[in-house]
Amino acid sequence: MSHILSAVAWPYANGPRHIGHVAGFGVPSDVFSRYMRMRGEDVLMVSGTDEHGTPILVAAEEEGVTPKALADKNNRVIVEDLVALGLSYDLFTRTTTVNHEKVVQQMFETCRDNGYMIIEDTDVAIDPISGNTLPDRYIEGTCPICGAEGARGDQCDNCGNQLDPRDLIDPISKVSGQTPEFKVTQHYFLDLPALAEALAVWLNKVEETGEWRQNVISFSQHLLEDVRPRAMSRDISWGIPVPGWEDQPSKRLYVWFDAVIGYLSASVEWARRREAAGKGSAEDWREWWNNPEALSYYFMGKDNIVFHSQIWPAELLANNGEGAKGGELGPLGKLNLPTQVVASEFLTMEGKKFSSSKGVVIYVRDVLSRYQPDALRYFISIAGPETSDSDFTWAEFVRRNNSELVAGWGNLVNRTAAMIAKNFGEIPAAGELEDIDRELLDTVESGFETVGELIAHHHQRSALTEAMKLVGEANAYVTRTEPFKLKAPEQRERLGTVLHTLVQVVSDLNTMMSVFLPHSSNAIDKVLGGTGDIAPMPQLEEVEDLDGGDPYPIITGEYSDLRPWERVAVQPGTPISKPKPVFQKLDDAVVEEELDRLREKAGE
Ligand code: MF3
Ligand code: ZN
Repeated sequence: MSHILSAVAWPYANGPRHIGHVAGFGVPSDVFSRYMRMRGEDVLMVSGTDEHGTPILVAAEEEGVTPKALADKNNRVIVEDLVALGLSYDLFTRTTTVNHEKVVQQMFETCRDNGYMIIEDTDVAIDPISGNTLPDRYIEGTCPICGAEGARGDQCDNCGNQLDPRDLIDPISKVSGQTPEFKVTQHYFLDLPALAEALAVWLNKVEETGEWRQNVISFSQHLLEDVRPRAMSRDISWGIPVPGWEDQPSKRLYVWFDAVIGYLSASVEWARRREAAGKGSAEDWREWWNNPEALSYYFMGKDNIVFHSQIWPAELLANNGEGAKGGELGPLGKLNLPTQVVASEFLTMEGKKFSSSKGVVIYVRDVLSRYQPDALRYFISIAGPETSDSDFTWAEFVRRNNSELVAGWGNLVNRTAAMIAKNFGEIPAAGELEDIDRELLDTVESGFETVGELIAHHHQRSALTEAMKLVGEANAYVTRTEPFKLKAPEQRERLGTVLHTLVQVVSDLNTMMSVFLPHSSNAIDKVLGGTGDIAPMPQLEEVEDLDGGDPYPIITGEYSDLRPWERVAVQPGTPISKPKPVFQKLDDAVVEEELDRLREKAGE
């Protein structure tokens, strides 16, 4: 049994999340974690909302509320959406807990004491109204190269050149509309050059496993060609105070410095909560972090790669004293570096990049208010942006739902249960098996191996495609054995054998499907006479902050009592009654309705 950390990217709490977000970090991490638990591994799946940083501050100012109030509101929406999608976090928390702040500061202090946090003078742009740092992209002006107006401080969209915000002509702050002030101030920098060699050694080692997606490893290695110290503090009033700089409340830790530490702080919080509930020790998190045998998988969209394959490993190496400057271990001990950064590509929508401001967007909440959560999970799992960008279209969503989920898998379940209900009222015993029965039973049972291995190696599209192929085999078996024609009394034993075979493979397939489609797998388990809880579900719980901060909602769950990833023999005599369809067929008109909604949002 291995300890496996499923580290899921922390969604920003600056607004509700759209389906592109959950396609990147959400569904893939849940499928993987569910599978590993069923295989008997000790999985710890953690995440939370990412609540610091400029975008939250700016969004709060726009709404005229405090950043904490804005984060509170969006945290709750996001938590509710992720629960409704069935994402089985052991703990989904947030970055505004006192526990997170403490762990971040501990880690900062160890990195600093080891010499990897250096103070340097730096030029920063400040909004003259708020006194907050203006990130480059929040400054706009005329491009010094092509003369286009509306160039951003980091880049000109017209000529494509990278820019320095100080070179913009007539720069203005996008936050206040005023001219930004450029000034020299001190900040902490992560000494990446002192960590570069250790990073390269680590990247070469993980490359040798052959497990990383090629684009992720190449991109990460490429980043090491030009490393510079990177600022880890900001002039901003919202964020975690910098240890030692408490007398300068206008300086805070950079949001990315704190966010990636969330994987660790959430693991600590999980263990502390378990101890408080009498279920373990507050030190249990160390099994996933200090034990060198433990494995860790980080799930995210591709725009997050640099932070997980460079900044976070650098922080870990600095904490461990493993860079060129050496160092000592702090209270967190020696921490594991990522086993794999599992980054997905981008989902587009009807051929366009998601953009909340342009109305090219569909929020998770909107999908779940109209469609079954598993319809969305199915689409993401079989057609998501796993290794290349992929497009969500309503036409494809409806087509896949109707012709694959409903007419393929749903129909197999339905006709199997209906024939059993009508002819026996309970699962019949099998008589003598014929070759055709044995073949189907063997083919489907071997799916546990093939589908499982594909999931273990993050090929979820192929895994689900393979499972759907087995559904096709089972449907073909019905066509070939024609159980509906076995009506004569002397054919009754054969009918029992065919239906027994069928319900066994449906049960097997339902076990496999439960990682992709947990809601419907539970419903199907009931159809098959079970208790309807083969796929454990996450819960939203209202909790107190462990250290006296504000209460907040978390996602957690009890996931240990589950079906194993293997054939479980169905029990003859189990009552089965006439089923109701588990999957909803969608009317073709849905496509036009949704496209109309989109056009409305885009103001067309
Ligand atoms: N909030 C970031 C995003 O949505 C992801 C943060 S991942 C973390 O892109 F690990 F840093 F928290
Ligand atoms: Zn330009």
